[in-house]
Amino acid sequence: MEFNMQKPHAVCIPLPAQGHINPMLKLAKLLHSKGFYITFVHTEFNYDKLFNSKNPSEIENFQFEKVSDGLPPDNQRGILDLPALAYSVPVHCLNSFRQLIEKLNSSTHSPPVSCIVSDGVMGFTLKVAEEFNIPEILFFTMSACGLLGYLQFEKLIEKGYFPLKDESYLYNGYLDTTIDWTPSMGGIRLRDLPTFIRTTNPDDIMFNYNLQSVNNALKTGSLILNTLDDMEQEVLDVLKTKFPNLYTIGPIYLLSRQICEPKLELIESNLWKEDEKCLEWLDGKEPRTVVYVNFGSLVIMTPKQLSEFAWGLANSKYSFLWVIRPNLVEGGAEVISGDFLDEIKRRGLILDWCPQEKVLSHPSIGGFLTHCGWNSTLESVSEGVPMICWPFFAEQQMNCLYMCNEWGIGMEIDVNVEREDVEGLVRELMDGKTGLKMREKIMEWKKKAERATKPGGESYIEFDLLVENLKGEIA
Ligand code: UDX
Repeated sequence: MEFNMQKPHAVCIPLPAQGHINPMLKLAKLLHSKGFYITFVHTEFNYDKLFNSKNPSEIENFQFEKVSDGLPPDNQRGILDLPALAYSVPVHCLNSFRQLIEKLNSSTHSPPVSCIVSDGVMGFTLKVAEEFNIPEILFFTMSACGLLGYLQFEKLIEKGYFPLKDESYLYNGYLDTTIDWTPSMGGIRLRDLPTFIRTTNPDDIMFNYNLQSVNNALKTGSLILNTLDDMEQEVLDVLKTKFPNLYTIGPIYLLSRQICEPKLELIESNLWKEDEKCLEWLDGKEPRTVVYVNFGSLVIMTPKQLSEFAWGLANSKYSFLWVIRPNLVEGGAEVISGDFLDEIKRRGLILDWCPQEKVLSHPSIGGFLTHCGWNSTLESVSEGVPMICWPFFAEQQMNCLYMCNEWGIGMEIDVNVEREDVEGLVRELMDGKTGLKMREKIMEWKKKAERATKPGGESYIEFDLLVENLKGEIA
């Protein structure tokens, strides 16, 4: 195959988790559609899981490469291993990534690397970029409000909020303390901030990893966010004082629909096999009658929580489509048995993993019970589906707060979930007054999101600027 050695060549590297791979792959496809040669980098574990013995890409000028994450082969890289990844990645990926860039730069099969687009929480790549004198930009795949939450970590130490004095501070109301030192965060409680502050250990790996990530980013002054200006204007105004070159290109889900060539749909990124049979099942349902339940790729709940959700859904009497990942429940999902199985036969469908974007866009879906992962949130906004929020960890609490209090598109369910609450909220979501209001509100956001990602819209324009910038860097 002939390569145009003058083509700009972007190396895109996500954190090796589904919620990070998806938006990074969309960005890679967007750049490809604007004439970039793309190298998309997975960890060896994910690369092998995704492609097995298949050809990773039949698309011209789009290749996949792999780096080592340094974890042992039997490690399944689930949520409990995030700390292990945080220890390992900055060392092992760093070396492996350095070798990869060296290899790519001496390859005669691809143009020299002209820029690196790295996940904001894979900031070790900046070191390699500097060594090879290659421009790099970070892509934080979380919400702007979530990022602003992480930016408070330094201050939390300085002001003595972190580390927590002892474990009792997790339960004694201390997390309800509000912080007031950042504009646009007035009234925000400690419990709304990214959950990695909830520790008594000053050396806590997740706290320090995230602190390090934002500090790395602050040094660059540039970044890409998957959000739209209308939704997070106030927060973005604050972020712009710290990141003068801030590109807001979201929802990337809608932008990629506008810009990406259809053939790029052949390139997939699902770490679990999508079960398409749910679409047929949905076809048999009336419009807006089904509750979609999905807690993303990292949540792990207790059997008790699963059982409360199950009975709340059953008692609501609405049809439901529920994705229960094989590793969603501590110790397995055996509570899905007995009487509940009869309920499933009557009005439910349970799957391991589904094509979420297609599900959310299906007319039968009336509401979404979600963990408030940022991709799920924006996909739901893009399809106009109101939500019940059960934030689990990371910045999901911040997303939930904004969904419920600022954007009017969500209702929160208590962390100690009870079946009566699930039942009541599902009924409200599907047929209540609040549900109706939320539906109207989310339709407004959907329109704004569509406008932003069409030619002339803010996100569309910002993406063009980003492309110009990334292309300019190679001149
Ligand atoms: C999370 C969140 O991104 C983020 O809030 C936090 O920082 C840590 O990581 P995740 O739990 O995977 O990631 O949630 P989400 O951001 O919603 O991403 C899940 C992605 O997988 C979405 O793009 C969704 O469409 C896709 N998905 C999920 C499927 O395609 N099928 C499924 O069954 C479930």
